[in-house]
Amino acid sequence: MKISVIGCGYLGAVHAACMAELGHEVVGVDVDGARVERLARGEAPFYEPGFAEVLARNVGEGRLRFTTDMGEVAGARVHFIGVGTPQRESGLAADLSHLDAAMTDLVAVMAEHPVAGALVVGKSTVPVGTAARLQAWCEDAGVAATVVWNPEFLREGFAVKDTLTPDRVVYGLPEDRVAGEAARDVLDEVYAGVLVHGMPRLLANYQTAELVKVAANSFLATKISFINAIAELCEATGADVTRLAEALGHDERIGPKFLRAGVGFGGGCLPKDIRAFMARAGELGVDQALTFLREVDGINQRRRQHAVALAERHFGGSVRGRRVAILGAAFKPDSDDLRDSPALYVATRLVGQGADVVVTDPIALPGLHARYPHIQTAPDARAACLDAELVMLLTEWREFTTLDPQRLGAIVQDRAVIDGRNALDPQAWEAAGWTYHGMGRASTTW
Ligand code: UGA
Repeated sequence: MKISVIGCGYLGAVHAACMAELGHEVVGVDVDGARVERLARGEAPFYEPGFAEVLARNVGEGRLRFTTDMGEVAGARVHFIGVGTPQRESGLAADLSHLDAAMTDLVAVMAEHPVAGALVVGKSTVPVGTAARLQAWCEDAGVAATVVWNPEFLREGFAVKDTLTPDRVVYGLPEDRVAGEAARDVLDEVYAGVLVHGMPRLLANYQTAELVKVAANSFLATKISFINAIAELCEATGADVTRLAEALGHDERIGPKFLRAGVGFGGGCLPKDIRAFMARAGELGVDQALTFLREVDGINQRRRQHAVALAERHFGGSVRGRRVAILGAAFKPDSDDLRDSPALYVATRLVGQGADVVVTDPIALPGLHARYPHIQTAPDARAACLDAELVMLLTEWREFTTLDPQRLGAIVQDRAVIDGRNALDPQAWEAAGWTYHGMGRASTTW
């Protein structure tokens, strides 16, 4: 099928490549000329395991191309919208300017080159009510297209796998049954290679589909902040949050995932999505329903601040002039994404307080240099830790969590580590002579 993907950021670029991988003829559109050039050459503009291969193969075999010219989407049956919906500069709400700009251009192309049964399929995370607005927009412009909301649940680091083998697919369909059934059948055809036997494919109205996405991210954020709040209690009492989380996780109703206490959640999704959700609830007059998310956000901010406070406390109050090695810059491992990264927050705060900070990260250093040229970096953990008075593990890359405390101990000035992800074995590090500080993690016999 001839498909367009509008917006080739993280979500859109991966989606475009995966749709081509399914055998469709895909054109990806983005306003960023440099990004489009790289994608068109089959080069991944960000780090994502497995993506570069899928991209290069499909560009090479001619099923996938990229352009800045919206005119080239003419004739496509399905237009996926994957533009960014970041937090507004002022306030908590989502900035829909990219979405509206894309729609303006797309509607103009669809008006000039009508395609029978065309679909506009939204994948971006949007405030509830957006799909209905876009459907009305098409109708007002005399464009006979059906809008569907098809939220994306992919995780960075697993983006290709999550797109090709998702755990569920949701179609948000219009109230008009005939139009909805026709749209459902077209999307079933698009996703024929994905909809394997037994994989849940849920049909819902627009509002439900839009809310599923923000509800899912809010739940994940709440789970992380819940365990981080418990970590605060553990710190106050001498309990150990990792053992506690393990015991909680054995209850099937709770489950072990997303209960890793540490410096908290970051990235381009969870933080801005919970804020936009609160803002939308306020507009709808049901802000009380989501006031708990303010607390979720607050707990999350406190944990990164706590990591800074631990460093200050370690040095008796001031970090000025102290040599600190920071392991990790990305918001999570297997990603070079620095958006709202807790590691970056800690690094910039310590630099701001006059510490002599050296940051390392296996993948994210080019992005760090570009945006924060004043932050010192080193190519690997050993180089970063040379003569350090304090080591802080803030992104749990495997190359950091498997460091040998004995060998690392030989090159630092002081054997002190803050494990911001509770990813190290405290006993092994203490046995090698290190002072270990976890996040809500006590050093106990049991
Ligand atoms: C998140 C969701 O998990 C995806 O389902 C969703 O599609 C995506 O946002 C999106 O809206 O696009 P992602 O931002 O890639 O995916 O990252 P997560 O794996 O959810 O991790 C988010 C943050 O939480 C990271 O900083 C991670 O370190 C932190 N985290 C995660 C914890 O601190 N503790 C945990 O137990 C788990």
